[in-house]
Amino acid sequence: MYLRNEWMTSCWLLFMISLSFLPNSITQKVKSGDSLNIPCHRNSPDFNTCMIKVLHDVRPILKKGVPKMRIQTLEPMFVPQILVKQGSGPVSIDSTFTDQKIHGMTNYMINGIKIDLDNFKMEVDFYLPWLYIEGGYSIKGQILVLPISGSGDSWSNYTTVTGKAVLTGHSESRNGEEYWGIDDLKFSINVKKATIHMNNLFNGNKQLGDAMNNFMSQNFDAVFQELKPVIDEAIAIILKDIIKKLFAKFPVKALFPI
Ligand SMILES: *[C@@H]1O[C@H](CO)[C@@H](O)[C@H](O)[C@H]1NC(C)=O
Repeated sequence: MYLRNEWMTSCWLLFMISLSFLPNSITQKVKSGDSLNIPCHRNSPDFNTCMIKVLHDVRPILKKGVPKMRIQTLEPMFVPQILVKQGSGPVSIDSTFTDQKIHGMTNYMINGIKIDLDNFKMEVDFYLPWLYIEGGYSIKGQILVLPISGSGDSWSNYTTVTGKAVLTGHSESRNGEEYWGIDDLKFSINVKKATIHMNNLFNGNKQLGDAMNNFMSQNFDAVFQELKPVIDEAIAIILKDIIKKLFAKFPVKALFPI
């Protein structure tokens, strides 16, 4: 673990994502007057189970979107651009993914939730049966022992996706109301299996391209473990931004009724 951390700090890791569009699509123009009507009571013994049910009940809403509140559909979720750059190590790549459509997000299942309102700490474990992602890509670099280069369209299907988010914060008071101020969000994701397909790798050399796609799918776990810190960080940035906006809009007592 120590060695790995040391390797991590010495390597050049960079992840950027176009944040401007995505979180706003979810929270923009949600007026503070809009009530949430969460039916769970924080001191009730089934509070956590009730919050899980709420999160499951909002899935159809996220699927369709709410044009009136400018909440866009999450099915698919659209991400204009994702840059993944990792400068050294077994997977060193410089890649850009554009106009990504992410399907399957709203099939999430919440496996567990822990809300500690005294300490402003929340943990959520979730499961997604699959995630199908399509869009444009360009990539250059090395995947384990093989060089990779190309640009074109790509799709990938990730199955049995599990993850955990841990949110920490503090009490903030504004206009006589208590809000949950966000300090940090840690995210960890795991993916059991993936099928990856990038069209037009190696200037369209089909034989090399097919071999590379098979190699990435078959060695997905090894590739994923190398990229996991970057992916975890990217998802944490997106989630933190969404939650920050949501929690800034609604006081604690609206989110977690007494
Ligand atoms: C992705 O994988 C899941 C599970 O194997 C499968 O049910 C689904 O049809 C696949 N999606 C696509 C678009 O291939």
